[in-house]
Amino acid sequence: MPDNIILIGFMGVGKGRTARCLAEKTGCYTVDTDDLIETMVKKKIRLIFKKQGEYVFRQLEQRTADWLADQVSATIVSTGGGFFKVKNISSLGKVVYLHSSVEAILTSIQSHSKAKKKIKKRPLLKDLEKARALYQERLPLYRAAADFEINVENREIESIADEIIGLTKVGRV
Ligand code: S3P
Repeated sequence: MPDNIILIGFMGVGKGRTARCLAEKTGCYTVDTDDLIETMVKKKIRLIFKKQGEYVFRQLEQRTADWLADQVSATIVSTGGGFFKVKNISSLGKVVYLHSSVEAILTSIQSHSKAKKKIKKRPLLKDLEKARALYQERLPLYRAAADFEINVENREIESIADEIIGLTKVGRV
């Protein structure tokens, strides 16, 4: 199995920021699955959803997972909130679920200085009631897909990254 760390969790929970902090602390590379998809198809996620629909986006996530499995090792991978559903998630590396309550996630996004932009780029966050329902539906699935779960609510990124390093032994010989 590749020695990657795969960060999964709901939209806005801080997967990207945590991945960048982990990369800095460990010297590993980091990639983000949404960024890989946008580069691959030269289109923003928002437009893929709008023009081609969610089904096509999920197929692109699977293609990205297949590429990661073949090509990527010793890397911190941050993922889109639904990426954990790819068929081969458990073979990509150690899967770490970043957990927070849905209300804390939504409050943090809404109070962000770039709240509008953050919501605009995430089609599944536009309707808050639907977002809450999606969170409830996914919570047990995130837990089932994960090797480790970390509670990230109201915590500094540094301390979250240190906990992940301790749990997964990433960056140690
Ligand atoms: C999605 C989460 C988004 C992005 C897409 C779909 C989801 O990524 O992949 O809008 O299904 O939860 P973030 O989790 O980085 O917001």
